[in-house]
Amino acid sequence: MRQELGIGLFGTGFMGRAHSNALINLRYGADIAAPRPRLVCVAGGTEERLWPLQERFGWEHATTDWRALARDERVQVFDNCGRNNLHAEPTLAAIEAGKHVICEKPLALDADQALRMLEAAEVAGVVHMCAFNYRFFPAIGLAKRMIEAGDLGDPTHFRSAFLIPSAVSDGPESEWRLQAAETGSGALGDLGAHHIDVARYLVGEIADVVGKTTIFVPERHGMEVEVDDAVEALGTFESGATAVWTASRAAAGHALQSRIEIDGTRGSLIFDLAKLNELRFSDGSGWKTIFCTRADDPDMDLWWPHGQGIGWGDSFVNQLRRAMVAVGAGESVAPRGATFRDGYRCAEVIDAILASAASGRRQAIAYRDAATVRSSG
Ligand SMILES: NC(=O)c1ccc[n+]([C@@H]2O[C@H](COP(=O)([O-])OP(=O)(O)OC[C@H]3O[C@@H](n4cnc5c(N)ncnc54)[C@H](O)[C@@H]3O)[C@@H](O)[C@H]2O)c1
Repeated sequence: MRQELGIGLFGTGFMGRAHSNALINLRYGADIAAPRPRLVCVAGGTEERLWPLQERFGWEHATTDWRALARDERVQVFDNCGRNNLHAEPTLAAIEAGKHVICEKPLALDADQALRMLEAAEVAGVVHMCAFNYRFFPAIGLAKRMIEAGDLGDPTHFRSAFLIPSAVSDGPESEWRLQAAETGSGALGDLGAHHIDVARYLVGEIADVVGKTTIFVPERHGMEVEVDDAVEALGTFESGATAVWTASRAAAGHALQSRIEIDGTRGSLIFDLAKLNELRFSDGSGWKTIFCTRADDPDMDLWWPHGQGIGWGDSFVNQLRRAMVAVGAGESVAPRGATFRDGYRCAEVIDAILASAASGRRQAIAYRDAATVRSSG
């Protein structure tokens, strides 16, 4: 018999759907090596979005009161998919009620808030995960194993671009993403955060940054845009390797491009989300394409025989499986999963990029979590 874990989901938007879909996928199957998630209750701001989500994914209960969800005795895991300014308070309430916590990225509006979340989770001794789902693409997992095996030699460069058109197209755009009090930063925290976490995950800790932010379309949806439409940033890793990040909502030709390149003293890797099952590798003698859904991927038991490929949404299944296993075993989701420590450290990098953009100066990064982190990896 699989152990069962009661899940309380907060958020009925894009991520509410992605996480519900992943939990459904993990629900059935005696062969799935993870506790079975029970979809106890979903909470959201408005009933119009709540009830369709409840019906579609089979949540047992629904509420517009996230405080009730945070203290619901049937819930062991609180999964926060709310907008950014609703990450800290509901997650802290859930931690106070003794729940294990998953929170979407960026972990908080800023590093101070993220640090409070990390400290609270550590003191309470609950399992905590910041939902950086890129870590759960088979290609990123293989990149990690190749770098650790020395296939690239010593990493020298990390370059990434995350490009979407929402600032310059007529497509949908959540208004909360434009207001500083509700979102923190713009393209930086929304898109760039993924690539900052991948840079830390694959190459190592970041020591300093230089940033430039731009607002291209200052008024949208009848409101002033308060946060960056685009960011360009340079970084230096503690190892001496360098990073270049670009994230933009003003790239009209891209429905969504997310590309990561890593160079080292012996070889180079390229990941492109449009071909997420592939990794391109060159040792200098020419590029080869590696199909990544291989038996050495730790989640391929959930999926299809090698060569069939998985999809973007499937990374959330892999990620939430890791959370279920960690909660069941009472262990950290690290090192594969991102903890609140990773969410906090990413927030420090984001704050430093914003500070540099404001001052025009290079900004050293001072992580403040050393004294508080005990077990989160
Ligand atoms: N991991 C990823 O790839 C990824 C992708 C997109 C978004 N995200 C993150 O997920 C989070 C949610 O983003 P989204 O795209 O689902 O946003 P969204 O705009 O689609 O949904 C936001 C949700 O927040 C909740 N909410 C909004 N206002 C509320 C209120 N006043 N009271 C209570 N609840 C309210 C609602 O449930 C709403 O559906 C954000 O932090 C975002 O950064 C992560």
